Amino acid sequence: MIVPRSEFVGDAIGEHYDELDEFYREVWGEHVHHGLFERGDESVEEATEALIRKVAEAAQINAGDHICDVGCGYGGAARWLAENMGVRVTGLTLSEAQATYAQTQSVQNGIPEPVILLRDWLENDLPDNHFDAVIAIESTAHMPERRRVFSEMARVLKPGGRLVACIWMTSEEPTPRTVKHLLEPICREGRLAGMGSASENRAWIEAAGLTVESVEDLSRSVARTWTICAKRVTVGILRNSRYRSFLFDSSRQNRGFARTLLRLRLAYAVGAMKYGFVVVRKPI
Ligand SMILES: C[S@@+](CC[C@H](N)C(=O)[O-])C[C@H]1O[C@@H](n2cnc3c(N)ncnc32)[C@H](O)[C@@H]1O
Repeated sequence: MIVPRSEFVGDAIGEHYDELDEFYREVWGEHVHHGLFERGDESVEEATEALIRKVAEAAQINAGDHICDVGCGYGGAARWLAENMGVRVTGLTLSEAQATYAQTQSVQNGIPEPVILLRDWLENDLPDNHFDAVIAIESTAHMPERRRVFSEMARVLKPGGRLVACIWMTSEEPTPRTVKHLLEPICREGRLAGMGSASENRAWIEAAGLTVESVEDLSRSVARTWTICAKRVTVGILRNSRYRSFLFDSSRQNRGFARTLLRLRLAYAVGAMKYGFVVVRKPI
């Protein structure tokens, strides 16, 4: 696993999303995850929805199910699932800004609102054998104690239930150059506790007593996300003084994340980073 060279202090992950709150939403929207560009000419909205649709299909979600969304961001996936699949969702995030935003949105059609908790997944306090499915869209790489991350998912899932995780991964054997210039800085600037390869993730999941049904590499279809983000941030910096003030304010802990956008695009281009779509079942 590739880990950042310096440890995070305090609630660095929640602070990352709080400090970048307005930029995340302006640049990309209320989904803080890659888009799935299968044709290549989709809008950002179409591509982000396509990823959620794929997660819902793989999780075999049915109306009336109760879903746990681990690392739910602004609750975009939770609301989409509630509105389009008629499910109840409980989501957790470490970011106060995200939780506040999510708690003030509403879903249409009288479906129960998702319950959004400002709570650490590793201290989730949720009941055993409770959820029909667990989804984790781009959240696990932030979390330390990766085995416990997955054993908590195994604990809260009903027997036979599915976990679908979209995971930021490294290639199986990244070169020292890509680790130094791309993967380690991505972990540090993106506040990731660490990025593992597909086989490392598989081992953590299996150690939690879960069965891995498939691991799909979606890197080619999602990489365009960072081309679009880098362009939008560049336009923001050129046209908007708020972007420039943030970038040149040395008290801002997360201003280096702007560089990460380019590193991410490059990491996909050279094959050092992979986007893993992992489908898992809890044995009956
Ligand atoms: C890249 S965002 C993805 C958000 C959301 N899944 C989406 O796709 O829009 C990562 C999310 O993981 C959450 N997260 C990271 N570590 C967490 C933890 N230990 N407990 C709960 N949430 C966590 C962050 O707060 C953030 O909401």
